[in-house]
This record gives sequence, structure tokens and C-alpha cells, in this order.
Amino acid sequence: MSLPAAVVRRIERLRTEHDAPLCAYVYDLPALERHIQAMRQALPANCELFYAAKANPEAAVLKTLAPWVDGFEAASGGELSWLYEQCPDQPLIFGGPGKLDRELDIALQYGVSAFHVESVTELRSLARIARERGTQAPVMLRLNLKLAQAPQSRLVMGGKPTPFGLDEEGLAHALQLLRDEPSLKLQGLHFHLLSHQLDVDAHLELIRSYILTFRQLCAEHDLHLSVLNVGGGMGINYQDVTQSFDWGRFCEGLNGLIDKYRMGATRIRFEIGRFISAACGYYVMQVLDIKSSHGEFFAIGRGGTHHFRTPAAQGHDHPFTVMRGTQPAQIIDASVTLVGQLCTPKDVLATQQPVEQLAIGDLLVFTLAGAYAWNISHQHFLMHEPPLKVFTED
Ligand SMILES: Cc1ncc(COP(=O)(O)O)c(C=O)c1O
Repeated sequence: MSLPAAVVRRIERLRTEHDAPLCAYVYDLPALERHIQAMRQALPANCELFYAAKANPEAAVLKTLAPWVDGFEAASGGELSWLYEQCPDQPLIFGGPGKLDRELDIALQYGVSAFHVESVTELRSLARIARERGTQAPVMLRLNLKLAQAPQSRLVMGGKPTPFGLDEEGLAHALQLLRDEPSLKLQGLHFHLLSHQLDVDAHLELIRSYILTFRQLCAEHDLHLSVLNVGGGMGINYQDVTQSFDWGRFCEGLNGLIDKYRMGATRIRFEIGRFISAACGYYVMQVLDIKSSHGEFFAIGRGGTHHFRTPAAQGHDHPFTVMRGTQPAQIIDASVTLVGQLCTPKDVLATQQPVEQLAIGDLLVFTLAGAYAWNISHQHFLMHEPPLKVFTED
């Protein structure tokens, strides 16, 4: 994959500015802005686009997206506080399993636009805390119902037993509680059943079943709901980015569904992560060493999977481009495994990949590194609080 000229220039500048071998994330913010603008433009008028900040909560990324999105989705108390700090004027929606009472309370104080309630226990806690505060909490029920067609992708979070959302029994309890509890206001229903979706037709089918379920539940329970959250999950094809989810064609199909099922008066809300920010990020590693081991080449780069966990998390060979330095090539037209500096054989970013030329000092530029990359690399995933560290002394 060829690199945009502006990214190459920025990396070249970094190379000259730094004496030490380079290791960096580089983000192409104008490209991110063009991408989100185009996504926004294609969306039907009654649709809302939220950014799932778990994909990449860098302040500059959030600020670039802020003018083009309807708000941000937080999936932990840490993310929520960070988003509130960075973009205090943006609507925030709060999801994720295992919310703490303290986090629910803070979210009420921040005035979040919606709580995505994952269980009856959580709904009870929210009711109690809202009552104590003398306020009303806006609720979206996250559902994990049996659908006519089971959702299919590499990462499925519903339509089968999972820790997420409410099943039929949980929904009945939740609706009863909502009827009896004035401190809760049911706004709508929430579905997020999968990630890594590359198939537009399959995704439209899934959205069609969300719409049918939404309509059926509204009719059965006499609910007047204004919002249907259909989650995120649009996929990136890391091996061939041109085969990634076709957003334009999806939006055309979505328009058809909205017309067919007369959903124009309902706000259809997306909370998308990967598909928004993956393409704007690059992880750059300078080659520190090249060696041959038992007949195979290895290039050791500055950094590794502790900075860039995406290839390990996905179990794939991450796409990359070589930016040559000034040294004569040590490898010519051969395959090489790209590894980091960690002393584990699992610190691999790509295995036996063909390169035309490679030398110590060259830069390995991993593309599609803007989502679930640095922030899932062990220390920062979801910005949850760290564990306590306790040392016995006798
Ligand atoms: C509830 C929920 N919403 C949205 C997302 C964003 O998904 P993606 O990055 O695949 O768009 C996730 C990802 O795990 C999620 O769990």
C-alpha cells in the first residue's frame, strides 16, 4: 500500500529530527476529516453518527471528529471522564458491562444523553442513584435477543450466550422496572452484535432484523421510542483495504430500509469505531537489526506488540510499507519476519513477508494502525483503572 505524500514527509522529518531509532504513531488528521465528512454525507437524514472512542481516544482524533459526529460513545468510566474533559460540549452516550455505581453517578452529573443498560442489576442501580439525585436517567436497553438469522463475523457479541445486553427474560424484567420507576426514562433500544463486518448485504439484513424487532417490541409493549442504536462493527480488510466495508453502498441500502419500514421518524444511531479511525494511523518502527535464524530472516524493529497489539489481537500479518534509509540493502527480494524488542516469540507483527529491499535503519511503516492499536496495547485498553499492587512483607 503506498503512503500518502504528507505522511511520508512527516515521517522523513521525524527521522531527521531524532537521533535515536524511531518508534512513533503518526496520524493523518486531514485524511481522517475527509473520511468522516464523506461518511456523514452518505448517511440518511434521520441517522446519527457517534464515534466509539474505544477505537482510539487520542485528543487530536476526537477534536478532528467532533464537528462531524453527533457525539461520542464511552465504554468505561475512564473513557467517559476523558471524553467529558476533552469535548465537554459533545453529547456522550455510556455503554459497557460492569459499570460501577460511582461511574453511573458521575455519568448522571455529566448529563450523558443515554445509558446503555446491560443488565437488570445495572438498571436497578441506575434507578436508585438517579432517585437519590432527584433526576431522571435516559435509558437505552442493550438487547441480545435470538434473531431470525444468527449474525456472522469473526467477532460476534450477541444472538447467542454472551455477557452483553438483555435476553428475552431480562427484557421483560427491565420493562417492568421501567414502568414502575419514574427516575428512569426509556428512550430506545440498542443493538451491537458484531464487529469486523465486511459484507454489506449481511449487515443490511442484520439492520433489517433490528428494525423489525424494534417495531415488534414497540407494538407489543405499547412503547413510544425515539432512538434505535444499531451499534458499529463495519470492518476493515487488513489484507486488501479496497475490500473493506462499502459504506456508500450500505447507506443506499439503509435508505431503502428506512423507506420500506417507515422509520423516518426514528433516530437511527450508529456508534462506530474501527471503520472511522483505522485508516488514519501509522505505526512506524525503525529496523534495529536484521538476522538470519535457521534459514529465515528476522528484522527487529524499535517497539513491538506492547505498543501495537493489533496484529497479535487479530492474529494476522499486519500490512506495512518499507521506507528505505541510506544503508545498502541487506535483504533483497526475500521474505522476512518483522518482530519487536520484547523477549517473547509472540512479539511478531508480520511473518515471512516479501520485501524488495531492507537494511538496518530503514523504517517499517504499518498502515491501518489508527484503531484498536496503541490504546489496546495492554496499558491503555478502555482506560480502565489499573489494579492495586499489594506486596506481603512477612
Ligand atoms: C457496544 C459497542 N459499540 C460499538 C463498538 C464499536 O465497534 P467497531 O469498532 O467494530 O465499530 C463496540 C466494539 O467493541 C462495542 O462493543
